[in-house]
Amino acid sequence: MADRKEEDTVAYEIKNGIALVKFNRPEKRNCMSPKLNRQMLRVLDELEFNDDVGVLVLTGEGSSWSAGMDLKEYFRETEEKGLPGIRQSQREAYTWWKRLRWYQKTTIAMVNGWCFGGGYGPLHACDLAFCADEAQFGLSEINWGILPGGGATKVATNLMPLRKAMYHALLGENLSGQEAAEAGLVNESVPLDQLEARVTEVANKLLKKNLATLKASKDAVKRVMEMTFDNAEDYLIRAQEALNFHDKTHGRQEGMKQFLDDKSYKPGLGEYDKSKAGTGRD
Ligand code: ACO
Repeated sequence: MADRKEEDTVAYEIKNGIALVKFNRPEKRNCMSPKLNRQMLRVLDELEFNDDVGVLVLTGEGSSWSAGMDLKEYFRETEEKGLPGIRQSQREAYTWWKRLRWYQKTTIAMVNGWCFGGGYGPLHACDLAFCADEAQFGLSEINWGILPGGGATKVATNLMPLRKAMYHALLGENLSGQEAAEAGLVNESVPLDQLEARVTEVANKLLKKNLATLKASKDAVKRVMEMTFDNAEDYLIRAQEALNFHDKTHGRQEGMKQFLDDKSYKPGLGEYDKSKAGTGRD
């Protein structure tokens, strides 16, 4: 087909509080070109503070989640423009991955097929990840003569034990969905025909939680990983105090009230009823 227009490289729909965002270059196995990277940032911008969106799911159109960076458009063609072109296309990719990593809404990677190299950036950026048993994960960089850059080495060592990460980076062999789950790249692997239902089930559970608390909790998990114990303790106190300010629904007080006074739920067994308190959105 003729070259896809920039605005057509990403597709999305919003349904019942869930934004389903798709890499949309199935004919190129959803590899990430500069056009796709720019468009993805626009879409993320558009959805981040949209009150109709509580959870964002990132998936791929067709047989692939993402076949990594576009070897032609991201590497060869930008390299022809020299260092300014290279740095610009790196910025465009890394910017949306970083944006996703600290996104306001909870994010789920729904890996429906191929996931290679650069795809590990957005995979890691998503808070949770589910994949199809049929999916294939690979650091294929070694197979074409580069190291796993763009953060992919860091992702592998963050998510996998050292021996597994090293084998993965050096051999360039693919992992099936189930092997990826065992290695820690994703939370769970299920048959492809059950993937969307499972992700929707998890997203619906998340939608019942206080959204401001979800944002504070996911940031806390990511931030403390790089802190000393003392710094983490201190950060968590301050993050909770900031949450008390940002949560306009006063979820903490409501949660205590419904348990201690109303006796209408038990926090150990499920969440408080936020419909009695508001939406958790600013
Ligand atoms: N960059 C550029 N073009 C790509 C990429 C890519 N990463 N992946 C697929 N394509 C293109 C192919 O060149 C082909 O284009 P054409 O129709 O114009 O010839 C089209 O997408 C379809 O690809 P096929 O290889 O025909 O699809 P198939 O389903 O047989 O294989 C597979 C899928 C295994 C994903 C294969 O396309 C592949 O190996 N892609 C490269 C994966 C990879 O190593 N990515 C780079 C990781 S490293 C990094 O991201 C920094």
